[in-house]
Amino acid sequence: MCGIVGYVGSNKTVDVLMGGLRRLEYRGYDSAGIAVIDSRGVLNTAKKAGKLSALVEELKARPINDGQTGIGHTRWATHGAPTNANSHPHLADNGRLALIHNGIIENFAPLKAELIAEGFSFESETDTEVAAVLLGREYQRVGDLAEAFRTIVARLDGAFTLLAVHQDQPGVVVGARRNSPLVIGLGEGENFLGSDVAAFVEYTRRAVAIGQDQIVTITADAVTVTDFDGHSVETEEFDIAWDASASEKGGWSSFMAKEVSEQPDAVANTLRGRITDGRVVVPELTEFGDDVLAGIRRIVIVACGTAAYAGQTAKYAIEKWAQVPVDVELSHEFRYRDPVLSADTLVISISQSGETMDTLMAVKYAMSLGAKAISICNTQGATIPRESDAVIYTHAGPEVAVASTKAFVAQITALYLFALHLARVRGSLPEAEQAAQVAELQAVPEKIATVLGVEDEVRQLARWMSDTRAVLFLGRHVGFPIALEGALKLKELAYIHAEGFAAGELKHGPIALIEPGQPVFVVVPSPRGSAHLHPKVVSNIQEIRARGARIIAIAEVGDAAVLPFADTVIHIPLAAPLFEPLLAVVPLQMFAMELARAKGLDVDQPRNLAKSVTVE
Ligand code: M6R
Repeated sequence: MCGIVGYVGSNKTVDVLMGGLRRLEYRGYDSAGIAVIDSRGVLNTAKKAGKLSALVEELKARPINDGQTGIGHTRWATHGAPTNANSHPHLADNGRLALIHNGIIENFAPLKAELIAEGFSFESETDTEVAAVLLGREYQRVGDLAEAFRTIVARLDGAFTLLAVHQDQPGVVVGARRNSPLVIGLGEGENFLGSDVAAFVEYTRRAVAIGQDQIVTITADAVTVTDFDGHSVETEEFDIAWDASASEKGGWSSFMAKEVSEQPDAVANTLRGRITDGRVVVPELTEFGDDVLAGIRRIVIVACGTAAYAGQTAKYAIEKWAQVPVDVELSHEFRYRDPVLSADTLVISISQSGETMDTLMAVKYAMSLGAKAISICNTQGATIPRESDAVIYTHAGPEVAVASTKAFVAQITALYLFALHLARVRGSLPEAEQAAQVAELQAVPEKIATVLGVEDEVRQLARWMSDTRAVLFLGRHVGFPIALEGALKLKELAYIHAEGFAAGELKHGPIALIEPGQPVFVVVPSPRGSAHLHPKVVSNIQEIRARGARIIAIAEVGDAAVLPFADTVIHIPLAAPLFEPLLAVVPLQMFAMELARAKGLDVDQPRNLAKSVTVE
């Protein structure tokens, strides 16, 4: 969702802002704009609906004077359509102040009415312009941006990151943050602000995360952070673990293609440093407290979208190895009922971005009820890990494509590490069994690399199926969440109706959807590892095949039983049942990507979607 960048320094500010916005494009947006205080101390803005290229054209047609202070924004429309007028920055104080915003100001309507009654007028339909006018009015009273911010934040309900510049304070950018993301980048004689480190990683690898309800002021040489009452707060610097090239497309046709191919590394890097002598020891969990873990009686996983399917997949392993009951909940459903939690409940959140508002709210709510919270997250310094008691970072590297791929396999890997660590401290899994699972886990990167070899086969299939209007996915046991994930990938990338079902549920309703030619992907469990389930799924295949379905089976190498009934078989290497999802998901990701490409769609930024959903 909205991307934010702020800069003070002697580089070309327009270039820094535009470069930052380009790196934040992946978040999803539909308009963009910048504001710069030029060397004469005059505020200049340029904004345009559409992609960044439209803003680039606008800047060519009507160049703005450069300076040393500026803010930039990519907007994902919430209040008001994606038009030029609704794009950020919004101006106030007679065009002397510019403000950008990520989040939603829930009480903007009464505030707007109050300001209109005072004679202020508005040029947009946005909630953001209300904050800008409010800030401008306060600035006129106090003459200082940070101080003006401290007053107005008390009047705003909802979630926001706000950044502003005022032409009477050149060399200063001020930001305020509640629940939406904001990170500082520390440079030499220059400083940055960004929605995430991608905004400035080209210039510095030194970053500082800003906490809840804090106000930050940057100049070229200094950074000051206070709480909303103006008390200074301690901040902690961290090194950005990846460099700018990690978030570049390189020679790949899309970020998604690159990220699918990076999955062996995503798993290997997530395992690194967490296995000792054939046993899983996750240092972050040891620090959290093995005694606390040993006392856990129930686990609730909260997540959204693909991350929730990672949770559903891992539930099987956690329950089997650690013998603790696990519920997997969509964060937005969990938060707004009255869940029963006790002090021995552990809440695990899963979030690639660490900024998903629904998940953040679920974590905060669970903690307010006394539960302990662990975060599985891929983004350093993000809000959810900062709000949690502990974090297990996945080391998938930056995931830029909106469709989550390498983060998914890294999340399952991190959850399996968690499950084996928990099993060890609880003594629920014999040592030899632990060692066997560790060996399986360590073999996953190489096996995923083998699966990547089915690319041509999958591309051919996708081309044949480019006119397909609906696709069904079936799976059983750990194959069920993979069926759901396969369907989600296809929906979001190829805009095709796709549904995932538990294979056992087929005869309870979904089989009515089968008509001649209906494509059905079936994730087939291993005949060796799941001898009891395999024949049942093969029977399901026969049932739908008898009704004309076209079967595409994802089956392990050597599974002869599916061959007579499948139109296409995509083979995956042998693996123990709980590890099959890490392999079976790869062809499904590829299929969705290739079908989208065959339809000429943008696989990195599908319509209407944002990479991280930072509003509820
Ligand atoms: O950043 P998060 O992992 O919290 O994001 C959760 C979902 O929004 C995300 O997985 C979404 O479903 C993806 N677009 C799926 O590809």
